Amino acid sequence: MNENETIKIIKQRRSVRQFSDRRITENDLNTIINAGLYAPHGETNFEEDIYFTIIQNQSVLNKINLLAKETAKQSSLEWLRELGNNENFNCLYNAPTYIIVSVKKQSKSAVYDCSALTQNMLLAVESIGLGSCWLYFPLQAFDNDNNLGLIKELKIPQGFKPITSMIIGYKDNNEVNIPERKTKNICYIK
Ligand SMILES: Cc1cc2nc3c(=O)[nH]c(=O)nc-3n(C[C@H](O)[C@H](O)[C@H](O)COP(=O)(O)O)c2cc1C
Repeated sequence: MNENETIKIIKQRRSVRQFSDRRITENDLNTIINAGLYAPHGETNFEEDIYFTIIQNQSVLNKINLLAKETAKQSSLEWLRELGNNENFNCLYNAPTYIIVSVKKQSKSAVYDCSALTQNMLLAVESIGLGSCWLYFPLQAFDNDNNLGLIKELKIPQGFKPITSMIIGYKDNNEVNIPERKTKNICYIK
């Protein structure tokens, strides 16, 4: 198997859930967002239909954690209810930076487009020596009609809907642990 720099970064990227308090620079943020914009996309026009919200304000981060957990408590899924009720659980893992990717057009490809963009960003994060984790849990804060004010507070324009989100920061631990991944399911039709 080839092991070039790109393959190394892809394998090295693991979800990081422990960060130091140090905030990442705006230059790094620009690099990461820019990498997202080079992802493949379907109907979504990245220039106009995607909205990035970068949250570094601690009281807003705390609010999102609490609102997401409140919504999770009402979930039909037991594991989400359990996390919602766990007082020690912070669904943003106390990360200093949280990014929400919202999309305007709810086209058939919107979720795929945001996902491709998000994965590009996660790989860019790893490539510049930072850590990240893709997060669904905190987006539950937007699933609850009682929390419509949050969209306004975060200045997400009308018509945009949060689709993916991630935390980013300096890894608390730089140990690299790459568990082997295999598949039994490959079929060649030659
Ligand atoms: C769509 C999606 C949603 C995820 N949501 C969460 C989440 O809410 N909380 C969390 O801790 N990790 C979340 N993750 C991270 C996964 O748990 C993680 O990617 C998976 O366990 C594989 O580990 P790796 O990223 O280290 O390869 C999410 C990943 C994806 C792709």
